[in-house]
Amino acid sequence: MSFKERVFSGVQPTGNLHLGNYLGAIVKFVELQNQYDCIYCVVDLHAITVWQDPKELPRATREVTAAFLACGIDPGKNIVFNQSQVAEHAELAWVFNCVARLGWLNRMTQFKEKASKDRENASVGLYAYPNLMAADILVYRATHVPVGEDQKQHVELARDIAQKFNNDYADSIAAHGFGEKFFPLPEPLIQGPATRVMSLRDGTKKMSKSDPSDYTRINLTDDADAIAQKIRKAKTDPEPLPSEAAGLEKRPEADNLVGIYAALAGSPRGQVLQEFGGAQFSTFKTALVDLAVARLAPINSELKRLTQDPLYIDSVLSDGANRARAIAAETMSAVKDIVGLVRAKPH
Ligand code: TYM
Repeated sequence: MSFKERVFSGVQPTGNLHLGNYLGAIVKFVELQNQYDCIYCVVDLHAITVWQDPKELPRATREVTAAFLACGIDPGKNIVFNQSQVAEHAELAWVFNCVARLGWLNRMTQFKEKASKDRENASVGLYAYPNLMAADILVYRATHVPVGEDQKQHVELARDIAQKFNNDYADSIAAHGFGEKFFPLPEPLIQGPATRVMSLRDGTKKMSKSDPSDYTRINLTDDADAIAQKIRKAKTDPEPLPSEAAGLEKRPEADNLVGIYAALAGSPRGQVLQEFGGAQFSTFKTALVDLAVARLAPINSELKRLTQDPLYIDSVLSDGANRARAIAAETMSAVKDIVGLVRAKPH
């Protein structure tokens, strides 16, 4: 059976959006909107799996929305909304809590990293997080999920959940006229030279919102001076840049900066190395500052403008939520019929 092609992805409203979120995910969101029906979600229910200040969360939710728009996502063409406005995400997640196996969740590396040594004290939500993520995707029966490398395992879990649901309820799915499979198996789209952007201070660590040092990342809210300063201070090694990709092996900081340059320029790594092979980092960093500022400054000023207009942002979110809900409600009604949950039917 073939499913209508649809893209879904989400970003958490926790802390600053950074270059990793931009190059690993949002740039792809913008590209895909010309090819597919796309749904882009600010996942506030995921954010509260770790404590969020209730005075701060609405600002963060609006800021991620503003960043989507500032980066070029068209809220007319696509659906842009925040997760908590569409209750079906949480409703389907419960069904998935009953489909996914403990053993599957026990393998999730992100939970292990985030809960670290204090596992007993982690929220149940943090543990069940991947089931909610599967519900986000599958409540729209989405087929493609653009994400950075770190989310691959979660999208694979969503595939496992879809497959198990399709198998467990195969007879009921057929009996209700949905054919052989109700859910598609969503594909992660992890492409380009910056699927895993690393910290500017340690090329072996992922660039992350939660790193205590702001010098490890470039935020979308950083102005030109901050961007320049962070790139100039980025860790490097003493060798000049190689002219072949093989020369970047065991040089994680060099590899990262070349990947960032390639992604910002929209050209392959090989081409960047051809241009800068043999150059010192001082020369390369100057070019990287110019490129990063040229790409990010217009986003930064549009982001500032939009964050001053929360009423407009809220109208985008509520319009998007209405459109998302219409699709999600249809899926949820079908899931209830398939699972055998009695629901009110229109007369
Ligand atoms: P989040 O909010 O941590 O990150 C948002 C997106 O940015 C990507 N990303 C990176 N890409 C490259 N290099 C990095 N250093 C880097 N850091 C983050 C992430 O891979 C992600 O694509 N669980 C998700 C949110 C989510 C979701 C979903 C995604 C909830 N439901 C359904 C897709 C589909 C998360 O925490 O992303």
